[in-house]
Amino acid sequence: MPSSTRASVAVGRKLETRPLLVVFGATGDLMRRKLLPALYGLSVDGHLPAGSVILGAARSTDYQDASYRSWAALGLKQFSPFHPDAIDPWCDATLFYQPVRDGAADDYRALAERIAALEKEHQLDGNRVLYLALPFEAFAPTIQGLGEAGLGHGPGWTRIVIEKPFGRDLDSAKSLNQLVHQYFDEPSIYRIDHYLGKETVQNLLVLRFANVLFESLWSRDRVSKVEITVAEDLGLEGRAGYYDRAGALRDMVQNHLTQLLSLVAMEVPAAYDAEAIRNEKVKVLRSIAPVRPEQAVFGQYEAGTIDGASVPGYHQEQGVPGSSVTETFVALQLRIENWRWQGVPFYLRTGKRLAQRVTQVVVNFHRPPVTFFKDLDPEDVHSNELVITLQPNEGFDLVFEVKPPGEAMATRTERMRFRYAEQFGNLPDAYQTLLLDVLEGDATLFVRADEVEASWQLFAELLAHPPAPKGYPAGSWGPSAADQLLQPNEEPWSRP
Ligand SMILES: NC(=O)c1ccc[n+]([C@@H]2O[C@H](COP(=O)([O-])OP(=O)(O)OC[C@H]3O[C@@H](n4cnc5c(N)ncnc54)[C@H](OP(=O)(O)O)[C@@H]3O)[C@@H](O)[C@H]2O)c1
Repeated sequence: MPSSTRASVAVGRKLETRPLLVVFGATGDLMRRKLLPALYGLSVDGHLPAGSVILGAARSTDYQDASYRSWAALGLKQFSPFHPDAIDPWCDATLFYQPVRDGAADDYRALAERIAALEKEHQLDGNRVLYLALPFEAFAPTIQGLGEAGLGHGPGWTRIVIEKPFGRDLDSAKSLNQLVHQYFDEPSIYRIDHYLGKETVQNLLVLRFANVLFESLWSRDRVSKVEITVAEDLGLEGRAGYYDRAGALRDMVQNHLTQLLSLVAMEVPAAYDAEAIRNEKVKVLRSIAPVRPEQAVFGQYEAGTIDGASVPGYHQEQGVPGSSVTETFVALQLRIENWRWQGVPFYLRTGKRLAQRVTQVVVNFHRPPVTFFKDLDPEDVHSNELVITLQPNEGFDLVFEVKPPGEAMATRTERMRFRYAEQFGNLPDAYQTLLLDVLEGDATLFVRADEVEASWQLFAELLAHPPAPKGYPAGSWGPSAADQLLQPNEEPWSRP
């Protein structure tokens, strides 16, 4: 059953085993919108062999196998537009449900028995994935429950996938690492950051290390600044309970933006393997001094207009306390103190209810050192930029100066564009890529224990002394105070 309207994850990757996957948080939003469509997509494309088993686990006792399959099928019909006729039979053959309460030892024993029974009944090989699609508070009791029930190891391999956020700060991340290491070896732990599953993020490695053109320019000698933006036009989407406790620094900066930063800035790894790449990423993080409050601007959105529609401010959102000082916007500047990047400012920016949904890395190159064209003002010659767009409409733009024909000497800024969709069709979903990596035991695109701690360390001071958020109208690019982070004579923040 090949699907024709989207790109499949790597053609030819076929699993040699029929695994059992247990998804904790199986009734949640992530499972319905992302994980089930990704697992179904892997089956449809032939990557997940027929006969594999997915056991959904959550606290609710409202579901049994049959009712869970109906719930899942409804979601799949909404979120996975491929082969709708095959959805019901796939759910019937693949999905099962088991109620498990947080910290209830009896429930984990029952879960272990259910896993063993399903493996026997379906003649599986004993290879298991335990996926924690849970809120942060439920990670520790679930890991403990699994470990104490002896589920840290199985008859074949066992791999545990832990969703973000991995911790709320450095201390909680360290405690969670200690706990998970009691029952699981580091190579079997997959801390997921779905940004790393995006094709464009992986292509950053190819862009940098398969193109002498770019890598030879990739340093303080040629780069004047790097800007990383993850902008959302959406607000809370009913997730006030989670978001108001997290804020933009925990929700986006510590994980997604920091991951992009380390991939953009890292040295050439010794090999294309998980340890070599992650070693280089950690080295970048360790070369950055912890960000101080004066290096950051926090913001909180106020009522405004997006695409012509009025939207409420953060305080008017359902479930947000009127006194909340949670930041919905962060802009910060940091420096990487190593030979490659010394003196180059890196700017990170993220926010909700901004003017446009876009994720971009903009690499700004130096302006020419002298103005050769005597009729031109130096300011008329703009710096070259490499714009890497991760969403939407993934691709690269090279921004450069040209002379408009026929005119007196003048320059105009033009763009050379590459768009994935034009060359390759639609890209595979990040979760599909990452789930297949877990099943194949490839941890390259997952976050290692020391990496997650180094990234929390980077923001420890900022978390301890957060700047008061400044208001910004929904539909803008954040508080104007963010401009003050830029150096004099620097190009302004990019406006995608
Ligand atoms: N949704 C997304 O798009 C998205 C994207 C990236 C990452 N994530 C991450 O994925 C995880 C799950 O997110 P979600 O959006 O699916 O959350 P959700 O919709 O609130 O679902 C949470 C799930 O966990 C179960 N659960 C078990 N123990 C729980 C506890 N102590 N408290 C609350 N729920 C508990 C819930 O079912 P019962 O109440 O029946 O147990 C439910 O199945 C989070 O870590 C989130 O940060 C989500």
